[in-house]
Amino acid sequence: MNVRERLAELSRQAEMGGGPARIDKQHKAGKLTARERIALLLDPGSFLELDKLMTHGCRDFGMEDQRIPGDGVVTGYGTIDGRKVFVFAQDFTVFGGSLSGAFAQKICKIMDLAMEVGAPIIGLNDSGGARIQEGVVSLAGYAEIFTRNTLASGVIPQISAILGPCAGGAVYSPAITDFIVMAQGTSYMFITGPEVLKTVTHEQVTKEELGGAKAHATRSGVAHFAVPDEKAAIGTVRRLLSYMPDNNMARPPRVACDDPVDRREEALRTLVPEEPNKPYDMLTVIDLLVDRGSFFEVHRDFARNIIVGFARFDGRSVGIVANQPAVLAGCLDINASVKAARFVRFCDAFNIPLVTLVDVPGFLPGTEQEFGGIIKHGAKLLYAYVEATVPKITIITRKAYGGAYDVMGSKHVRADVNLAWPTAEVAVMGPDGAVNIIFRRELAQAADPVAEKARLVQEYRDTFANPLKVAELGYIDGVIVPEDTRGHICRSLEMLDSKRTQNPPKKHGCIPL
Ligand code: HXC
Repeated sequence: MNVRERLAELSRQAEMGGGPARIDKQHKAGKLTARERIALLLDPGSFLELDKLMTHGCRDFGMEDQRIPGDGVVTGYGTIDGRKVFVFAQDFTVFGGSLSGAFAQKICKIMDLAMEVGAPIIGLNDSGGARIQEGVVSLAGYAEIFTRNTLASGVIPQISAILGPCAGGAVYSPAITDFIVMAQGTSYMFITGPEVLKTVTHEQVTKEELGGAKAHATRSGVAHFAVPDEKAAIGTVRRLLSYMPDNNMARPPRVACDDPVDRREEALRTLVPEEPNKPYDMLTVIDLLVDRGSFFEVHRDFARNIIVGFARFDGRSVGIVANQPAVLAGCLDINASVKAARFVRFCDAFNIPLVTLVDVPGFLPGTEQEFGGIIKHGAKLLYAYVEATVPKITIITRKAYGGAYDVMGSKHVRADVNLAWPTAEVAVMGPDGAVNIIFRRELAQAADPVAEKARLVQEYRDTFANPLKVAELGYIDGVIVPEDTRGHICRSLEMLDSKRTQNPPKKHGCIPL
């Protein structure tokens, strides 16, 4: 065979991965191959593969006779909606997609290129972890990837789709990336699998229960999205990217918008109930405000008392953070604080303005929260809001009580535009609790304590449970009618488009982790 013929043969071998039987097994398990996934992810015909012929250098355990060109990972670059991205797809049909030294080198090469040119990197993960036959070479390979993930954090968007097993140290590369998308039923992530658990802690769980998409999307919060299948996972990656810039020096793409900027929404007029303790769905508020159909919720099934997600106003990407009065009355707890803090920091790193919708009765009380460290976790959200230099717009729809008022994008944490609806109540705490504390003696001595309490509660309400006091103080910039909110947000974003703010120079802050 001449070189051309050998090349064609090696290329064919690379494309066949672990061979027809293993490809068949992959399909029967409801999974696509690495190449099929890349074809779905990228614009048709845009993929350019690198290192197709690279193989491992292992000479132990008979590995010298088992060399498949490409060595279990397909790497390269292409476009999504015409924008350049780098991609690697682990091929489970080759040694279970396990990571060898060469495999790691291939991934590192495209990560380095992505950093050089400032383009997002997408990892399609489906791997049995460290290639056991390679020993420490594989561990070193992982560490090289983790190092690049960390250095790329906040410089280029990094997105991980988990489309098969992801065990041991293999979970840490996705964990350092910005977003994790998991396919239900076919993907799982854990540090130690069910077998080890059975031996060490005597716990009996299935791998789905321990590390499936549902477990990570609802309980651990490791996964940002749990979607029905691989196609949906890849669609999610494509949609996510549409809200992001290519890198931290660029702006997110602005899309054409035919939704009127000043669209009035009469439905908002009565959406917040008269009774202060009656819930309503903040998702409805969001949907009515943003460019039609543009809201893309992140972490939907985790810490549902806070909502985070991307949306557009007049075609501009924003990150939305909103309390959800329909869940736990919208209280901030540990999970909600961490969820929102992470999202705020992502948006800030990538020049995506923040729109905050506030209806929060405070931090969730209780020993579970206190012992769990709500102080340090709540502080993360505070820290994230303060350090964020992107345009920040805050709308108080109803309650903004206590420390949670400060945290949720108040003027004092450097928000640029703060507006309130007439239903807003800004105070240190709710009327009942406040009256019990500050008028304890009066209530004890009152001839009719019930009537006296009702009178004092009303007095407190008249003083604080409205937006007038904060407007007088200049802590909000205006009281607006709900139906006009979209117009105000669009105008504010336009005004803030050229915002320039810099934090003091430092190596890095010490966020309360
Ligand atoms: C080499 C591996 C492999 C591995 C799987 N294979 N994992 N080869 N190294 N880590 C091979 C199998 O030998 C098999 O080869 C093929 O891949 C498919 O594997 P199966 O077991 O047949 O598939 P399945 O039943 O679907 O099970 C998948 C699996 C299981 C759950 C991933 O293979 C498994 O438990 N693998 C080991 C996982 C693990 O412990 N990895 C190390 C984690 S520690 P053939 O030739 O039969 O097709 C780690 C440390 C990193 O990653 C630390 C970094 C800091």
